[in-house]
Formats: sequence, structure tokens, C-alpha cells
Amino acid sequence: MSFVLTKVDNHIATLTINRPDALNAMNDEVVADLESAVQSCIEDENVGVIILTGSGDKAFVAGADIKKMQSMGPEDALAFGKAGQQMTLTIENSPKPVIAAVNGFALGGGCEISMACHIRVASETATLGQPEVLLGILPGWGGTQRLPRLVGSGVANEIITTGRMVKADEAKSIGLVNHVVPAESLIEKCIEIANQILKNGPNAIAQSLDCIRKGVGESTEIGLAIEVENFSKLFGTKEASEGLTAFVEKRSPNFRK
Ligand code: CAA
Repeated sequence: MSFVLTKVDNHIATLTINRPDALNAMNDEVVADLESAVQSCIEDENVGVIILTGSGDKAFVAGADIKKMQSMGPEDALAFGKAGQQMTLTIENSPKPVIAAVNGFALGGGCEISMACHIRVASETATLGQPEVLLGILPGWGGTQRLPRLVGSGVANEIITTGRMVKADEAKSIGLVNHVVPAESLIEKCIEIANQILKNGPNAIAQSLDCIRKGVGESTEIGLAIEVENFSKLFGTKEASEGLTAFVEKRSPNFRK
């Protein structure tokens, strides 16, 4: 049985990481199951947006499995780190937007998974953080790279070196999450965002995400070159023709026939 439950409804796939006894902590199996569930959604033509959440009302993901890491040496840690990083890259590189519904603790690997998602919505009860240094290790699934890109290196330096908890409201104020909503409205808010996205052209969405992902960290000139390449590629496609014609004909476009 998979540690990740998948439900698809109206082009929205909801993936639930399901290991509630351990606050959805990630061991090898959970990492592999999450990567394969995301990959299946990417390949499923019926899916346009993915929502990722944790089971129970306490945790999104409380991190990599500490009990498993206790007995690891450098070689095991290298393999575990690379597997987790690859899983976060599969999420980040998804041509379909992935929305993290952060329903509780998103610590260590959990915060890192949420940061690999394209959009983060947190419940008022959520707590994020990178507490690895408290364990004598460091964030190994992208925290040292994605956190400074999201919040700036000054704030990331403090969060990572203190390992302190970041409550939902602070996470919103530093740009670590997009929205904070009451726990009972969390999935509803994610579905609302997903439905707004679903009205738009799937290729335009995928190519926009590609520009943003590839352009971050590059010079403006390189970023603009990537942008104009993707911009021009869309012209002449059925999708762009439908969107441009619908505007001229004063009707709503239909991108998902
Ligand atoms: N790994 C393994 N098990 C975990 C876990 C984790 N990351 N987090 C929680 N659990 C388990 C606990 O061991 C406990 O199991 P038992 O009942 O069998 O003892 C169960 O989940 C419930 O946890 P608590 O009793 O601790 O619940 P709490 O409400 O008292 O505390 C918490 C919640 C503050 C999130 C606390 O569980 C905690 O601090 N967890 C660890 C958070 C952490 O340090 N995460 C980073 C891990 S390192 C990492 O992720 C590296 C990386 O970058 C890849």
C-alpha cells in the first residue's frame, strides 16, 4: 500500500501523505511513493493542478524520518539526501502547478517539500521551520537553496542557524507562504486557486513555470532570452489560437475540451 493517497476530481489531484502515526515523517518508502504519485499526476491528462497535503490535523510533514537517520553514515546520508532532493525536483519541475496545503507542522524535509511546490497555502495552525541544526545536521532536501530564494538570505540565515519555529502569520509576512486561512478552509482555498488556474491554457501555464524556474538566479538578459523563447513557442499552437480567438470573438476560451 502506498503512503500517498491520490484523489482526482474535476482536473484537481489531491495527494495526501499518509503516515499520521509519525506525523507524516518521510522514510525511503514515503519519499518514493510521493515521487511516483506526483509523476503519475504529471502523466495523467485528466489532471491540471496538484494539491499536496498531510494526513491528520497536526502535520503536513514533520521532516525526514529521524529514527531512520540515527543509524546513517555519510554514504547512506548521501543516497537519502539525493533521493529526497530528486523528489523535490520532480515536484518543482512539474509542468502542472503544485499547491502545498500546509495543514500543520512543516519542519525540515516537510518545509523543504512545501518550498518545492509552486504555491503554499497554510492553515492558521501551521508551523514551518528548518530545525536540522538542533539535531546536528543541516537541511538536505533543498532548504539551504530554496529558503533564501523565497525569503532572502538574511532571513534564511537566521531561520536555518537558529532552527526556530516560524508560525503561519510570520511565514506569510516573510513570503514563505502565499496565504494563511482557518484550518477548515484550507483545502477550499487551494481548490479556489486551482480552479482559477484551470481556466487558463495548460501549455501557457507550463511554459510560464519553466521561465520562472529557469530564470531565478540568472541575469535579466538570460532570463529574458528564456522568456522570449517560450513566448514565441506558444504562437501557432491550438491553445494560443483558441485563447486569442476567444478574446476577439468576445467569448470565454475553452482550453480543456
Ligand atoms: N521523524 C520520525 N518520527 C517523527 C518525526 C520525524 N521527523 N517527527 C515526529 N515523529 C514521531 C514521534 O517520534 C512520535 O512517534 P512515537 O509516538 O512513536 O514516539 C510521533 O511522531 C508524534 O510526535 P511527538 O510525540 O513528538 O509529537 P509532539 O506534538 O509532541 O511534537 C513536533 C511535534 C514538534 C513536530 C515533534 O514531533 C518534532 O520536533 N519532530 C521532529 C521535527 C524535526 O526535527 N524535523 C526535521 C527532521 S531532519 C530533516 O528533515 C532533514 C532534511 O532536511 C531532509
